[in-house]
Amino acid sequence: MRILGIETSCDETAAAVVEDGEVVLSNVISSQIALHRVHGGVVPELAARGQITAILPVVEAALAEAACEINDIDAIAVTNRPGLVGSLLVGVNAAKAFAWSTGKPFISVNHLEGHVHANWLHRANEPAPDLPFPVVCLLVSGGHTELLLMTSHHDYALLGQTIDDAAGEAFDKGSRLLGLGYPGGPAIQRASEGGDPAAFAFPRSQLGDSFDFSFSGLKTSLLRQVDHYRLPDDRPKQTGAIFPEHRPPIYRDDLPLADLAASYEAAIVEVLASKAMRTVEATGARSLLLAGGVAANRKLRERISDIAPEDITVHWPPFEYCTDNAAMIAGRAWHLARRGEFGDLTTDAFPKGAIAHANNT
Ligand code: KG4
Ligand code: ZN
Repeated sequence: MRILGIETSCDETAAAVVEDGEVVLSNVISSQIALHRVHGGVVPELAARGQITAILPVVEAALAEAACEINDIDAIAVTNRPGLVGSLLVGVNAAKAFAWSTGKPFISVNHLEGHVHANWLHRANEPAPDLPFPVVCLLVSGGHTELLLMTSHHDYALLGQTIDDAAGEAFDKGSRLLGLGYPGGPAIQRASEGGDPAAFAFPRSQLGDSFDFSFSGLKTSLLRQVDHYRLPDDRPKQTGAIFPEHRPPIYRDDLPLADLAASYEAAIVEVLASKAMRTVEATGARSLLLAGGVAANRKLRERISDIAPEDITVHWPPFEYCTDNAAMIAGRAWHLARRGEFGDLTTDAFPKGAIAHANNT
């Protein structure tokens, strides 16, 4: 079964064709990083406007890359929750239009379930990942930090989640504060090269024995550390701009950027890796998976590999399936289709949406 997936939940416009839930025939992603970098983060209204013009060329490119026409597709899947509603509506309405005009089945997908499913994706010339259940998945993105226990592709239990900022948000806020720009995760990873991860002490909130996370103390701590290096900002105030430009803080030349970035990154990585491992031990899981944009982080991958016991299968998706993409949506949709869980053309977009399958609205 070939599914066309569409993903527009944040600033990306993405489309992909995936066969039988796993084999990626195409994966096209149009990014707006340059547009949002000027403002220091995603401006929802600008994102949705850009997606309106990008969506049809991106779908056409995904079909062409898969050497398909729309008639070769068996179902149309789209992210309808959670995310920026203006952005979600672009993808949802495009998918509905394709489904209505072709008479193909329509499937709505939870973005977070898509991220988890990215672990099973592969190209036709690559082996299918063998990931025995029960699975613990550390889902770490710009808006979510969750530890999930999966006993099958349909049974998710939420074991822990952030009580304040998401891990990706901690990277993004730290990056802004250090003047490294958007998106923050890759910027901090680059800046930390050669830095000493033990140079500065950042909090590592363990929240006792719980599997929950807290990252909000980190940025306050970083603010205190950099304050000492901050120079007065006498640039005139920006007036009249509907979407003001982001102006990074100005620091003295001796700001120890690499050490600060490395220490900040190490604090996030250590908490994520140690909690994920404790969850594996507590549940007896046979696989540990990473998912979401922060799963692209090199230090996190290294740390998890270092501390995972040998009898556990550790896996993370290739980079292109960690950050937002539509292959993961088409992949997840296949499991829903097999259970007959099709949507209809009254399906709406929702800013929120819990991952636990039984609770989806
Ligand atoms: O999954 P994603 O693309 O979008 C959401 O669903 O939120 O995740 C985006 C997040 C951003 O916070 C970004 O800074 C972070 O993933 N990210 C990284 C890296 N690449 C992306 N964080 C740490 N290290 C990276 N290499
Ligand atoms: Zn995402």
